[in-house]
Amino acid sequence: MSDKAVKRNVIITSAITALGGLLFGYDTGVISGALLYVQHDLGYSQAHPMSSFQQELVTSLLLVGAVIGASVTGRVADQIGRRKTVLITAVIFIVGVLLAAFTPSLTVLLIARLVIGLAVGGASMVVPLYIGEAAPPHIRGGLVSLNQLAITIGILVSYLTDYALAGTQNWRLMFGLAVIPAVLLFTGMLFQRESPAWLIKKGRDDEARAVLSRLRYASSDVDAEIREVREVSRAKTTSVREMFGRALRPMLMVGVMLAIFQQITGINTIIYYAPSLLSNAGFGDKAALLANVVNGAVNVSMTIVAIRLLDRVGRRVLLLTGTSGMAVGMVIVACSFIAGNNLHGARAIVAVLGLLIYTGSFAIGLGPVFWLLIAEIYPLNIRGAAMSIAAIANWSANFVVTVSFLTLKNAIGNTGVFFLFAGLTLVALLYFYRRVPETKGRSLQELERELAR
Ligand code: BGC
Repeated sequence: MSDKAVKRNVIITSAITALGGLLFGYDTGVISGALLYVQHDLGYSQAHPMSSFQQELVTSLLLVGAVIGASVTGRVADQIGRRKTVLITAVIFIVGVLLAAFTPSLTVLLIARLVIGLAVGGASMVVPLYIGEAAPPHIRGGLVSLNQLAITIGILVSYLTDYALAGTQNWRLMFGLAVIPAVLLFTGMLFQRESPAWLIKKGRDDEARAVLSRLRYASSDVDAEIREVREVSRAKTTSVREMFGRALRPMLMVGVMLAIFQQITGINTIIYYAPSLLSNAGFGDKAALLANVVNGAVNVSMTIVAIRLLDRVGRRVLLLTGTSGMAVGMVIVACSFIAGNNLHGARAIVAVLGLLIYTGSFAIGLGPVFWLLIAEIYPLNIRGAAMSIAAIANWSANFVVTVSFLTLKNAIGNTGVFFLFAGLTLVALLYFYRRVPETKGRSLQELERELAR
């Protein structure tokens, strides 16, 4: 097979799988707009819409579902294979989305959000896992990060859909549109093959060889790769308890810390709350929504930049530069609120600029690099389970930040809360500088040998 055809195969495989990321982004983003209308239709009556607590439940049950989804998916993917796990995830997406779109009551909507969450949590880890194992090492960074690109596109599309459907107030359609990528993910995945590394681990070398011949350049030595994977997969199977043992603990810590830092540095307080933050600061609703869409577009564009650079300059440079930029952005946002919470003229522009610098910097570093690294740094035998632990940490931290943000903001003010995020970002930077390894260009087997030392 020519190198060109091989490249096309890996890109198609990665792009289809990344539809899971699109659903992750869309389903987490769509709620901000849908909530405006669903609260009246599913409240006690038009005059008595849903309470704030009920609205918080609709929003955050997805995150609870994601924690559960992430915690079971790793083991499932290690046992039945990556491809079947993606297929099951797609079915759960379809069921959850249809349930939300046709819900007769608030209770059913809450169940639907939990179900969608299961799929979002599952997809968040099995997508990078599958692409990471299918991709040739020298372009793995960019391919795995197609997942992050899809997440950001999903978020942006959800904002635009909310905006476009605001006139008709059709929240059912806002939820329901996600069924399209979910069905595409399912059908696309039917035509994909199982991950070669997983096949070799299960002793199915011939099938793995057939898959690898479609995914590796002519110059690469497929037999050597199979031998290498077999060798690392012969290592004793590790139980979860052993995973916390001496050899693996450092890398487990790196994954968990990256996960926690990705959330406690504040990204989703911006992704989920920017419009209300800006309209409270005196922006008109239209201006607030527009600034939000621009922010979403910066998120997408800078992720594309990251994809182009990850395999050239490496993960560490982008992570460290991006995290520094996030701190700068947060300091600017915090400063714009010092003279009061109502932003006018120049201060409004400064605040939005700070937000854009912050989001753009996240998109070039910590956004893609977290999901990429956890797909790279773990030994094959426990890869699914270890990725699960990192993903659980990520979704739990997301949940804690999301539910406490508004209370925290009321307690210490806008300036206080954004300076707090800036401070946490600096702590993250220091940690990344000292602990995060470079993984560019190496095969997963090489990394397994090096990082276990
Ligand atoms: C994070 C999400 C976040 C998104 C924003 C992802 O990497 O895990 O929590 O909403 O990036 O682009």
